Amino acid sequence: MTDLQDAARRVLSANDRGGYTVPTPRLYPFQWNWDSAFVAMGFALFDVERAVTELEWLVRGQWADGMIPHIVFHQPSDSYFPGPDVWRTPHTPVPTSGITQPPVFAMALKAILDAARQKKVQLEPGRIARLFDAALAFHRWWYAARDPDGTGLVALLHPWESGSDNSPAWDAALARVPVTTTTPVRRKDTGHVDAAMRPRDEDYARFIHLVDLYADCGWDPVEQWRRTPFRIADIQTTAILARAGEDLAAVADGLGRTDEASEIRAMVVRSRTALAGAWRDALGRFVSRDLVSREDVTAPTQASFLPLLALDLAPARRDAAEREMRGWCEGLAVAFPSTPRSSPHFEAKRYWRGPVWAVINWLLIDGLERNGLAEFAADLRQGTVAAIERVGFCEYFDPVTGEGCGGEGFSWTAAAYLHFTAMSART
Ligand code: GLC
Repeated sequence: MTDLQDAARRVLSANDRGGYTVPTPRLYPFQWNWDSAFVAMGFALFDVERAVTELEWLVRGQWADGMIPHIVFHQPSDSYFPGPDVWRTPHTPVPTSGITQPPVFAMALKAILDAARQKKVQLEPGRIARLFDAALAFHRWWYAARDPDGTGLVALLHPWESGSDNSPAWDAALARVPVTTTTPVRRKDTGHVDAAMRPRDEDYARFIHLVDLYADCGWDPVEQWRRTPFRIADIQTTAILARAGEDLAAVADGLGRTDEASEIRAMVVRSRTALAGAWRDALGRFVSRDLVSREDVTAPTQASFLPLLALDLAPARRDAAEREMRGWCEGLAVAFPSTPRSSPHFEAKRYWRGPVWAVINWLLIDGLERNGLAEFAADLRQGTVAAIERVGFCEYFDPVTGEGCGGEGFSWTAAAYLHFTAMSART
């Protein structure tokens, strides 16, 4: 083990709260959904039991209808807004938020089982069956609640559900959302990190309006779907869901759950077909769709290439995607940017408007490898590892200067470092 791998493990233990991991202490003091899935994959590399525990704690927040919330508030903390008093969700005993996040969960479950097999670690079958059931319920929820018309693309009802909270992809739809008039917005984030790196106040007031509206719907998915001004059929989430579905079907096979394996594979087929239909030749990338305005979301973001994670592209399309992606990387200190420099929305340090996230690279690298673009994948991996080695386990990176930004000692950056360096050791 190298010194930096050891440091990465120490970040995870410093952020461990006795079974689950916070993303970083003050800025994000609770358990976050997709952060924990990445963290579990990091733990699986050296402590399989602990990886299982991470997912089990997340499932404590799962709702009766299968939704796994984006935040589980295991312990109170006053360093974050909005807390449980703003969400007003019915979940007990542990309070949660009322929206979800990208379903990386089943990818983590499969990675854990693979690691256990490889390391000959015996896991109690009942624990695995419970995690499988939780993942299956989560996938069913996505299709029932977020794709009621059966299009294959699942929709987001809040920008935070994308995990790419402040992406320019949401600008047009968010402009339709009024600012809250009922809940006082008491931001805490700008007390921890530079306000120039965070969303603007006005956007925050719109984020909170959506929370107010959904609380007013009693968190009923049908009511929310009907009343929301923000409904986006998202390619990033759908790609993750489809890829996680492939992994979940493999887990189902291993558990002898044949009927469920076929059910999951049918969901995956539907999503893969829809993702393929979201390609736009003229742009050389994929696009999400605004279900309220009925228009393509053409703002260029990292999501444009996430479908590689779940699709096997024909050569012409694969080459076009690679050309476009390589163009976005030109002249940058660190890739892959969440918005290309050529976009009028590009801001090198502001949340999801340009910066590089190690976990996004994790998914893109997977997608590039799946599509036979191993060399590009290796470049991206080495670039990410080098960036972390230069500036540490920060939340994200300025693509132009390579500076570390946002929170420090960040769990998923540490997990990504462990994952990438383990991959490099294998190749
Ligand atoms: C921010 C990110 C989101 C992440 C959370 C905790 O809200 O946009 O993706 O899950 O921080 O790290």
